[in-house]
Amino acid sequence: MLISRKTKSTSTFFLLMIVAILTALFITSCVEDKGLHTPTPLAPLAPLPAADAAVFDEGTAFEPKTLGIVPGATNSELGFNWYGGAGATRAWVRLFRNNAFVSVTSGRSGRVPAKTGGTMCGDPLVNCDHPEMSWHKVTVTGLASGTSYEYSISNDSINWSHRKTFSTPSAGAFSFAAVADPQMTRGQQNPAYYGMPAPIGNGTVADGWRLTMEKITARGVSLIVSGGDQVDWVGGSGSFSMTNADEVEYEHFFAPPGMQSIPFAPAVGNHDLHNQFAWHFNLPNVGSRIDTGFNVMRAGANSYYYLFNNALFVVLNTGIHLSSIDAARTQVTAMSTLLTNAKAAHSGRYDWLIVHHHRSPHSQSAHSAEPLLGHLVKAGLNELMESQGVDIVITGHDHSYSRSHVVTTADVNGPGVINRTATSADNKNISLNRGTVFFGFPSASGVKYYPLYHRHYDNADYPYLSNGHIGNMGTGSNAFNANNPTWAANVRRQDNTPGYGIFEVNGKTISVRVLQTSNDSVVDEVTITKPTSSSVRVPERF
Ligand SMILES: [Fe+2]
Ligand SMILES: [Fe+2]
Repeated sequence: MLISRKTKSTSTFFLLMIVAILTALFITSCVEDKGLHTPTPLAPLAPLPAADAAVFDEGTAFEPKTLGIVPGATNSELGFNWYGGAGATRAWVRLFRNNAFVSVTSGRSGRVPAKTGGTMCGDPLVNCDHPEMSWHKVTVTGLASGTSYEYSISNDSINWSHRKTFSTPSAGAFSFAAVADPQMTRGQQNPAYYGMPAPIGNGTVADGWRLTMEKITARGVSLIVSGGDQVDWVGGSGSFSMTNADEVEYEHFFAPPGMQSIPFAPAVGNHDLHNQFAWHFNLPNVGSRIDTGFNVMRAGANSYYYLFNNALFVVLNTGIHLSSIDAARTQVTAMSTLLTNAKAAHSGRYDWLIVHHHRSPHSQSAHSAEPLLGHLVKAGLNELMESQGVDIVITGHDHSYSRSHVVTTADVNGPGVINRTATSADNKNISLNRGTVFFGFPSASGVKYYPLYHRHYDNADYPYLSNGHIGNMGTGSNAFNANNPTWAANVRRQDNTPGYGIFEVNGKTISVRVLQTSNDSVVDEVTITKPTSSSVRVPERF
């Protein structure tokens, strides 16, 4: 009997050991991010005293240098991105709901090189004026709709950040904010350089951005969509180095608490620089990389798409430098491929196709005449929007507000030439049977206020961008002024104050309000409605 009891006890012991080992293997397999870095052994995860929040705040609280969240491929996913100290090589996100542990997910990390003397890092022509740091990205999946979560992040799975919160949208109606050109500098913009007023009062650029983000957060939006130029010039040099810019710009950009609670979808602008942009944001459905020279590197890789309830967003890269029509054709082809892939991936599941990117030929200040935009238009940018069925385009770059007529392209006037159709008599209602409405947003921080119709580019191709007649900007019958704005111009304003847009999406109707940050006054209002038969609406699945 004694021997028998020992044998039984030993068997039980080994059985418990096997269960423990299998449990440990299961937990480890759950948190690995397949195909990425192999995670370090985890801090104790089981048993999980889910009701005791303090258990998960063990270790010294981790403070990332920057932290933001971005939309996932669908609303059941969410991207996290942060910068940590030098040498950190892991990334973890823990999720909680109603104070109970939900999951832990590992991700990717990498090295952001430091500036050492005069050597370059990242993009070939860019000095990285900061100490060595690390980037960290985690994508959490399996989120429920209409649910509030808490999360914390860690570089080592031992020391965790203080918890922050985010909420997924419920299926159906939702609202998003549109911003452009927060373009963080180190501090105050240089009035001697631009001859322009400070963002708000005597505040800094960061102050203007923080106030805009406070207003947006208070409006309860589920998403923030960007028209680009998140920062001014990280590691800048030459004529752009007026603020001796460095990583501090990104610290200002991610500083508002709303950046950690509302998914922010960035578009790469000409100021963002492509490697720094790619390191800072954890983007879904990223396009193919195109290596054709300076600043075209990562041109595709900084394009992406995501489905948000009944709206499919495709983010294109017009931040790159394009020195020829051939280079622009390569880029427009990449845009077309991404749009085609995005639509195929979500066929029948969206009512709205919304593009956001940086430069637009339909904005109303000097930048709309940039030669680069001439290359893009000649390469087919205008036709692409209509042929792909894009409903709304959101851009920045001109640091002023503009709303176009409904723009369509027509073969009769030659390639790239646009037609326009009117809205309702009061200009506040659009029935969108075909064509695209283009929005250009003012700076969300108040950095730089470019005047309307400002002659800056003496570009002989300029009118080609607007009405198809070759001429010279600022001269003769094609003069660019209030009586002869760009062909698609409808509403245009330069209020010399920061602003943003609120888009309320309800089925096949989107109501847009554009607001000034400082006093909440309305810059523009319009309601866009699509005919019921124009597409098939399928409820978002989770
Ligand atoms: Fe800008
Ligand atoms: Fe720009």
